Amino acid sequence: MRSFLLVANQAVTRPFNLNGLPNAGRMDLACRFLAQALCVSHGIREDVDAFLLLLVRGGEVRTLSPDERNIGGIINKALSLSVLPAWRESSPGVYVAAKDLATLLDEHPGDIAYLVEDGEDIRETAGKLEGCLVVLGDHRGLEEEQEQLVRRRARYAVSVSPHALQADQCVTIVHYELDRAAEGPSEGKMSLSR
Ligand SMILES: C[S@@+](CC[C@H](N)C(=O)[O-])C[C@H]1O[C@@H](n2cnc3c(N)ncnc32)[C@H](O)[C@@H]1O
Repeated sequence: MRSFLLVANQAVTRPFNLNGLPNAGRMDLACRFLAQALCVSHGIREDVDAFLLLLVRGGEVRTLSPDERNIGGIINKALSLSVLPAWRESSPGVYVAAKDLATLLDEHPGDIAYLVEDGEDIRETAGKLEGCLVVLGDHRGLEEEQEQLVRRRARYAVSVSPHALQADQCVTIVHYELDRAAEGPSEGKMSLSR
């Protein structure tokens, strides 16, 4: 199981206009993050949970396609529920709750991995990241207090590139490296179909 958390500090927590995703606290970033976390060509990665403090379970979600408008609609539906501290399902596989960052991290059964530019090269850690909750910042990164909190709980601090990338690009690289690590030595040919 792979889990990703985007700490989207600017994102609105009320229903928003699907024609103005960037104006809804950069909801476009959140939608791209979910697309990269969950979608493969013509399918969903069923072994993935993606949190925006919304939980979308790849193994249960039914009607998610990778375009931002479709995903924005799913988030909108979740935000139209009255949000409580316990998870509530807003559509198949999509859950919403009001939780703070510390609570969410503490509830995760596996280790925490913080994706950060100055972290250890993912090629050194990829084999250990299955089962981790991988935490990413939004376009501004984590706030200082949030970063301290995540670093205190994180077992791994991982870098995916010498460049500062967008969160959704980082998720794609994490999947790529974990898929490779799960497949073992390639012997010149990659075959990821199971
Ligand atoms: C657009 S970046 C944030 C940039 C922001 N100005 C900052 O300094 O943190 C969004 C998130 O992607 C992740 N990220 C970006 N580049 C990365 C890299 N090379 N290695 C690991 N994580 C990275 C981090 O979690 C970051 O908070």
